[in-house]
Amino acid sequence: MTPGSSGSDVPDPCSFSFREVSMTRTQAAPNTERAVQERYSSASRTAEPNLCCPTEYRTELLKAIPLEILEKDYGCGDPSRHLRTGETVLDLGSGSGKLCFIASQVVGPAGRVIGIDMNDDMLALARRHAPDVGRAIGY
Ligand SMILES: C[S@@+](CC[C@H](N)C(=O)[O-])C[C@H]1O[C@@H](n2cnc3c(N)ncnc32)[C@H](O)[C@@H]1O
Repeated sequence: MTPGSSGSDVPDPCSFSFREVSMTRTQAAPNTERAVQERYSSASRTAEPNLCCPTEYRTELLKAIPLEILEKDYGCGDPSRHLRTGETVLDLGSGSGKLCFIASQVVGPAGRVIGIDMNDDMLALARRHAPDVGRAIGY
């Protein structure tokens, strides 16, 4: 059974997985959730440069990541230098999945990456591109 699945034949709409990467939706307090949901749903449709904090990434790890994900980059840092081969990574607030896709390359096929986000549009964006990333990195 994949993480987030119910064990039945019906896919869990709040989670996603491909190989060692899975992404799951969480819930927040209603008022806060609405504001954050609207902000990031909008940003999932149209790139918002002002939502991105200046962050540098290891360029060799960006080659496998589709342009749409790089353009909708709302990350605030790159912790991937702390990762090691074979580790399991939990990305809380994984957004478009960029850091999950970077982390997947660092931990390798023996590792595992789990992305969690409350925004279905962001999860959809990540899920849409995950197969391409999987093909690009080979697992
Ligand atoms: C800064 S963006 C994501 C950046 C992403 N980690 C990256 O590097 O590209 C923040 C994300 O956190 C999500 N988020 C905010 N509060 C959350 C919560 N309480 N639970 C789950 N996700 C949350 C938002 O939906 C948004 O996608």
